[in-house]
Amino acid sequence: MARMNIPWIFFVQILVLASKSEAKVSAIIVFGDSTVDSGNNNYIPTIAKSNFEPYGRDFPGGSPTGRFCNGRLSPDFISEGFGLKPIIPAYLDPTLNISDFASGVCFASAATGYDNATADVLKVIPLWKEVEYYKEYQKKLRAYLGVQKANGIIAEALYLISIGTNDFLENYYALLDRQSHFTVQQYEDFLIGIAENFVTQIYDLGARKMSLTGLPPMGCLPVQRATNFEDPLNCVEERNKVALEFNGKLNVLVAKLNKELPGLKVFFADAYDLLLQLIQNPSQNGFEVAEEGCCGTGLFEMGILCNRHLTCTDANNFQR
Ligand SMILES: *[C@@H]1O[C@H](CO)[C@@H](O)[C@H](O)[C@H]1NC(C)=O
Ligand SMILES: *[C@@H]1O[C@H](CO)[C@@H](O)[C@H](O)[C@H]1NC(C)=O
Repeated sequence: MARMNIPWIFFVQILVLASKSEAKVSAIIVFGDSTVDSGNNNYIPTIAKSNFEPYGRDFPGGSPTGRFCNGRLSPDFISEGFGLKPIIPAYLDPTLNISDFASGVCFASAATGYDNATADVLKVIPLWKEVEYYKEYQKKLRAYLGVQKANGIIAEALYLISIGTNDFLENYYALLDRQSHFTVQQYEDFLIGIAENFVTQIYDLGARKMSLTGLPPMGCLPVQRATNFEDPLNCVEERNKVALEFNGKLNVLVAKLNKELPGLKVFFADAYDLLLQLIQNPSQNGFEVAEEGCCGTGLFEMGILCNRHLTCTDANNFQR
């Protein structure tokens, strides 16, 4: 459920990628967690929802959409940047159909992870199920546009994948089960194995251009700081170390997959350093507050704990 809003960082990185490869992007297809979920959890029985105020306060129309955010998420900005629609719809939205999804669709689910056990914690959509939905989407797209046109869209789409923080914060460090079976390094390797299978699976289904997002400095999330009893209100350095270690392994995986799978262009979207800079020097980046969240007391609030009565006045620069 942890999330950080870093659209412009992705935006710049993805546009650089696009200009390098002179990519023509037909659609944006999204897999992952709350960092990119545009509302799928609204339609499943879970408490990991954000379909209430103050979420969506700065979204066009000002209503909560199921994004864990005051406004749009990075895939929305990226889509608009490629001249596609400004909002990526959630696949499970029952008011929409394949005609709405042809140029972009989101299969992500807040609170999920690479590990099946992470999705079980709050009964959200596991990553393997996101892939099942993607297969169903392909069938519908072929029925709607014809095989040739649909296959063209599938091959020319940009696949955005943003997942992994919950495996550590909601699962490994919060519960005992994974800790009793894996050291944290073994758990990283276990997740990397799942990431490899996932990329290979969607490659086999026709995906060719992908952006795989690394972990943020997850020890700096407000809830981590608020529960940092050793160094109150500061970032939990050990969690950040794990994020860096995991990102290093993800980077190696990306290089390996680019070499092994013909025609694949997978890009490692590493926002760790940029985000840490922003957290450490908020005023240089136009923010006043970087150590607390905007809603509620800002210490623990996320998901259902986010409360509109105690929300900061301007999320764009976070002023109390
Ligand atoms: C999708 O929904 C629109 C509006 O409700 C409808 O006109 C259209 O026929 C539907 N298309 C498909 C392929 O189901
Ligand atoms: C996750 O669950 C799916 C469906 O039961 C299964 O196919 C897959 O092997 C599981 N993944 C791992 C890593 O255990």
